[in-house]
Amino acid sequence: MIKSYQKKYVIICVLTFVVGFVLFIATTNQSPSNNNLLAGKNAVVYRSVTCGCCANFIKYLRKAGVQVEEKLTENMATIKQQFGVPDNLKSCHTTRIENYTVEGHIPSEVIQKLLTEKPDIDGIALPGMPSGSPGMPGGKIGTFDISSFNADGTSLPYLSF
Ligand code: CU
Ligand code: CU
Repeated sequence: MIKSYQKKYVIICVLTFVVGFVLFIATTNQSPSNNNLLAGKNAVVYRSVTCGCCANFIKYLRKAGVQVEEKLTENMATIKQQFGVPDNLKSCHTTRIENYTVEGHIPSEVIQKLLTEKPDIDGIALPGMPSGSPGMPGGKIGTFDISSFNADGTSLPYLSF
């Protein structure tokens, strides 16, 4: 009688441990700040020396797994002109990744979609510096309205995220 009671107790103990261990592994593997969505990708980010939110965006890209080469410049206007970013879509920093221009504080999920689907465009842009976008402080207000553009100056809505 006593022995079978003990057996039950041991089984419950082992089950509790196993479930706990599985939950531990499952939760430690998915940290929201390190989604690794862009693991192994290479990017060049152009930014001005004084831009703090740009530095935060670079940290964000690195957490997503990107190897970032940071290029400091005092002439962002020339960089944007070089890659054909339309005036009305300009943000602070400009990223080049796999032959696309990614303008501004664009979430890694959207960059991943771009690199997976490889549309026939020159780049995408999230104009300005919306609150709550990667690298920017504050909460997200509404959606991030991202446009696609071509170096000839044309642009179209890409997606709202
Ligand atoms: Cu910014
Ligand atoms: Cu920036």
